[in-house]
Amino acid sequence: MPAIVLVGAQWGDEGKGKATDLIGSSVDYVVKFNGGNNAGHTVVIDGETYALHLLPSGILSPNVTPVIGNGVVVDLAVLFEELDTLQARGIDTSRLVVSANAHLIPSYNRTLDKVTERFLGQRRIGTTGRGIGPTYADKMSRVGLRVQDLFDEKILRQKVEGALDQKNQLLVKVYNRRAVTVDEVVDELMSYADRLRPMVTDTSLLLAGALDEGKVVIMEAGQATLLDVDHGTYPFVTSSNATAGGACTGSGVPPTRVDSVIAVLKAYTTRVGEGPFPTELFGDEGDRLRKAGGEFGTTTGRPRRCGWFDAVIGRYATRINGTTDLVLTKLDVLTGYDPVPVCVAYEVDGVRYDEMPMTQTDFHHAVPVFEYFEGWDDDITGARSMDDLPPAARRYVEAVERLCGAPVSAVGVGPGREEIVAVRDLVR
Ligand code: GDP
Ligand code: IMO
Ligand code: MG
Repeated sequence: MPAIVLVGAQWGDEGKGKATDLIGSSVDYVVKFNGGNNAGHTVVIDGETYALHLLPSGILSPNVTPVIGNGVVVDLAVLFEELDTLQARGIDTSRLVVSANAHLIPSYNRTLDKVTERFLGQRRIGTTGRGIGPTYADKMSRVGLRVQDLFDEKILRQKVEGALDQKNQLLVKVYNRRAVTVDEVVDELMSYADRLRPMVTDTSLLLAGALDEGKVVIMEAGQATLLDVDHGTYPFVTSSNATAGGACTGSGVPPTRVDSVIAVLKAYTTRVGEGPFPTELFGDEGDRLRKAGGEFGTTTGRPRRCGWFDAVIGRYATRINGTTDLVLTKLDVLTGYDPVPVCVAYEVDGVRYDEMPMTQTDFHHAVPVFEYFEGWDDDITGARSMDDLPPAARRYVEAVERLCGAPVSAVGVGPGREEIVAVRDLVR
């Protein structure tokens, strides 16, 4: 029965957490399949705000089993801190399951993330500094540490020794930092082993059984399409596959079982960190949108870069993810703008591009071609159906559908769980 993938269509922070939470009552499992605590999802329920980083958003729905899939990188200190914080606020976190194959973020990778950024200087990525990149690099280099290694201390020690042979050379000789001892790494990781053990399982087997029984499984991305290591604006990306294909490798649910792909996109565009952003607004214009949308990072508190809606990116995200449903968020933030510019194509050195340019050089030089849509002034936060929206707002939604090539199934009109215009069921 339904396996649903939910991804971000832009550069992150589209409101994936809210979209997952929205369908939480019709879902049995929510699987985080990529990334780690670089993500930040804010969910507002009955006026209470929850900020999640490592935990899947499904943890806030009472009947959902939240799953940390094999594709995730886990900082154990953050995991338990987040669990304790939610537990203290009365959220039952006891159903969480964690893949035995998920990788662990050791402390030396947090250090390396920060020092490599410093050394990159002008060429830095603007990472979240959480050790994400170095941990995925270790996974690919086959010197990573996995959750299951905590259950065999001898093996864990051997792996840490192997990793530190390389890491200490880097830390000491290249970055002028102190060497890390095997004991300190092993002791820190082992201090979590007993508490983690009951949560650990073969999550791909668990999900296969759940799908066989007709349960609804949603696979929720951290980050987003343009931050995907293969399909994003490389090298200004995260180090995992945040697109729909990543849902399969990162969870062990095969492509033949996926029924639909929900792509969440904001009515305008934001980006955190460095990298190209064709529709970016600067100065007062950028400040106005940032203030209207409350665009400050959930994870690092950094002001998000803001700009107009970019339909070239929207179309690209539909193609790369095979989007079946769009969830358009934050339409309320555009209230009061008139006209509302939408980027429908790029111009690069006098040539029009209707699709993403093939090379990064061209993308860096892309100048937006804008179409201007009529704005609206009425407060739309109370709208619950398309008919409640002013005609100009409806036309904006229809333009997004047409330009991105997928139907809009829900429209966000405020941060609250109930502040949504539902067009058609997302779980079918
Ligand atoms: P995620 O990383 O994709 O889960 O998104 P974030 O949580 O980082 O950022 C989205 C922000 O927008 C959060 O603060 C949400 O509470 C808020 N939000 C989500 N949907 C809407 C919406 O439709 N309208 C408004 N005004 N805020 C929204
Ligand atoms: P959610 O799930 C927005 C960005 C960082 C940086 C780049 C690489 O909340 O949408 P990393 O620490 O991953 O190596 O940083 O990716 N980035 C995000 N931007 N939302 C996120 O997650 C992000 N996760 C990473 O700012 O530019
Ligand atoms: Mg976020």
